[in-house]
Amino acid sequence: MKILLACGAASVLAAVALFGGTRTTLAVGALLFDGKVQPKEVVLNKTPKTAKSPDKFPVPFSHENHAAKNYSADMKSVLGCAECHHTDQPKAALKGVLKTAERDELLTAALLEKPDAKPVKSCAACHTQEGVKPAGLAAIPEVTYPEESDPTILTNGEAYHRNCITCHESVKKLKADTKAPTTCASCHVAK
Ligand code: HEC
Ligand code: HEC
Ligand code: HEC
Ligand code: HEC
Repeated sequence: MKILLACGAASVLAAVALFGGTRTTLAVGALLFDGKVQPKEVVLNKTPKTAKSPDKFPVPFSHENHAAKNYSADMKSVLGCAECHHTDQPKAALKGVLKTAERDELLTAALLEKPDAKPVKSCAACHTQEGVKPAGLAAIPEVTYPEESDPTILTNGEAYHRNCITCHESVKKLKADTKAPTTCASCHVAK
């Protein structure tokens, strides 16, 4: 509560608007980071809709490790911010099925330190839970992958799973004993 008060009513309202008023826990997190400071440790999946195990368990995520260590799929380089924050890059840099660009300059840690830099949106601002309309978008984003005929609706689960698990599967091929989780229960860990 202290955090909420310290940040003032305006940012509380902004955060609630951003998350459609449905993800209060996340909104508090967003206030803490203010969208301009990279979080160190994050807990994702704080408010699951389903009560089925293991889906109800939270997902710890070290932003610090993923943004600063050699966490690319081949474990040889540091990931570019836009590999995950894919809307934070210029249109000309978009690859594959991506077509939405919300930043004219590629997001970097240095860019974010500029006083006039736009804050970074949480993935969940656009990739909402099933049945929840994202604020600022007509609907939950969807894409049609080249190898598929039907569109895939990128709810929070779908978007994060595609992002996290696709990379972790590649890592596992290189390093069988990797700590990068690929199974439900090793990523959605009980506290
Ligand atoms: C491996 C994926 C990944 C990489 C790489 C990554 N991020 Fe993130 N970032 C995330 C996730 C996931 C969140 C948490 C979103 C949430 O709370 O739902 C996040 C949150 C943030 C936030 C807080 C946003 C908010 O609204 O609270 C900022 C700021 C941020 N990242 C900046 C960066 C910058 C700058 C870089 C590059 C130096 C970077 N990130 C690299 C995945 C990533
Ligand atoms: C500003 C809204 C917005 C934010 C913020 C956002 N996305 Fe997306 N995402 C989209 C849209 C829209 C698409 C559909 C493709 C497009 O229009 O670029 C998409 C597509 C995707 C896809 C499918 C594309 C592919 O290459 O398979 C994944 C996975 C994804 N997002 C994950 C994430 C993650 C992880 C984050 C946060 C680190 C995030 N998104 C933040 C709007 C957003
Ligand atoms: C582009 C690649 C990539 C993406 C995207 C990615 N990771 Fe990872 N992840 C890694 C690598 C590499 C490791 C370290 C593997 C090792 O050292 O054995 C790792 C390790 C982890 C670990 C073990 C603890 C740690 O920090 O090392 C967790 C938990 C984890 N990732 C969660 C996530 C979640 C949740 C997401 C999606 C929000 C995600 N990761 C997205 C590459 C990725
Ligand atoms: C690499 C980590 C990882 C793995 C492996 C993983 N998940 Fe997830 N899962 C996540 C993240 C991150 C989210 C999105 C959390 C958020 O919205 O904050 C998520 C979201 C979900 C949701 C949506 C919850 C809601 O209502 O918002 C369900 C359901 C789910 N996962 C089930 C599963 C199941 C079942 C498996 C195994 C087949 C699985 N997950 C494997 C990381 C993982």
